[in-house]
Amino acid sequence: MSELLTSKKAMELEDQYGAHNYHPIPVVLSKGKGAKVWDVEGKEYFDFLSAYSAVNQGHCHPEIVGALTEQAQKLTLTSRAFYNDALGVYEKYITEYFGYDKILPMNSGAEADETALKLARKWGYLKKGIPENQAKIIVCADNFHGRTITIISMSTDPDAKNDFGPYTPGFITIPYNDLNALRNALEDPHVAAFLVEPIQGEAGVMVPEDGFLKEAYSMCKSANVLFIADEVQTGIARTGKLLACDHEDIRPDVLILGKALSGGVYPISAVLADDDIMLTIKPGEHGSTFGGNPIAARVAVAALEVVRKEKLAERAEKLGQIFRNEIAQIKSERIEKVRGKGLLNAVVIKPKNGKTAWDVCLKMAEKGVLAKPTHDHIIRFAPPLVITETELKQAIQIITDSILSFD
Ligand SMILES: Cc1ncc(COP(=O)(O)O)c(C=O)c1O
Repeated sequence: MSELLTSKKAMELEDQYGAHNYHPIPVVLSKGKGAKVWDVEGKEYFDFLSAYSAVNQGHCHPEIVGALTEQAQKLTLTSRAFYNDALGVYEKYITEYFGYDKILPMNSGAEADETALKLARKWGYLKKGIPENQAKIIVCADNFHGRTITIISMSTDPDAKNDFGPYTPGFITIPYNDLNALRNALEDPHVAAFLVEPIQGEAGVMVPEDGFLKEAYSMCKSANVLFIADEVQTGIARTGKLLACDHEDIRPDVLILGKALSGGVYPISAVLADDDIMLTIKPGEHGSTFGGNPIAARVAVAALEVVRKEKLAERAEKLGQIFRNEIAQIKSERIEKVRGKGLLNAVVIKPKNGKTAWDVCLKMAEKGVLAKPTHDHIIRFAPPLVITETELKQAIQIITDSILSFD
């Protein structure tokens, strides 16, 4: 049906019949391959968002789509009321891949975060001995972990939070990248866990100081508190290592993955932990109809294989250096800052004459690069990790021309 639609008509349909919970850049995409996407009129773009880092392996990767279509014709869903012949294979594969005893499979990133929170509370009561209903979890200001009621209860973003109360209690909020605040918060004996994004993606690619994660991890160890890393956006090769925590050689007690776990072809998320934590949850205490379904199991294995075979972490590291170096050389008053790791980067844009990061994104779209502002003044640049060096340089030229057109 989409072949019959113009961009204009497709946008009108979404506007009329869909909830207005997003504000998209006005392009209507109908095809993707590798680092590129095409709109319904056939115009080509470089994708510099990668569906918020879900499409690390590139659009429609043949091996991942192959796993999906093959499994879809055989068995799609059993629920966890029965065993299936794909889940155990996936569970063995992913736990060996990341080095944990167990996985708990879910679908969206938010669900995986919720799972980690439940797991932390359960561990807090059963293993740490926190008195009933007293468990607390330390979180960071400006975090983004998803959109459920409990997750927005941890948020400090008024857009995410306002008019959605009452909120779930049990969280202590500290500033990001603040070890003193963490040290103080850890003095509370009822703290079960510290939940942190190794780089805050939605906040605008906020990279903490070197050593922050390592020291935070060691402080959690001393306080008998679980260190939970939300690597939904930073994980799976995006920042130039398999996990962003690998930059500081730390192994979270609980690891949350999503997005690129499927290469963007299916909603798949996961929580990984060792037995002493994971086995505190017993049958009937947590789950999801679709979590761990056979399609997801096959797709996730294929997606992780691609990351390894195509050395995507190494690619992200090398291409990320090129990106930051070249963008830093643009001589424009509009650029306030360039920051990031691997291929998760952001440019902070100085507004001028009422023109903001949104206007820069519209200009880039016109010229063939798709990216989206996060907050009013920051543009995140996160292309699929399969982008070639030549493509990256073409895209950098377009980004440069677009920014300079606002000087
Ligand atoms: C760090 C982090 N955690 C969790 C989520 C939520 O994932 P989902 O949108 O799949 O629920 C996101 C989404 O952007 C994220 O960046």
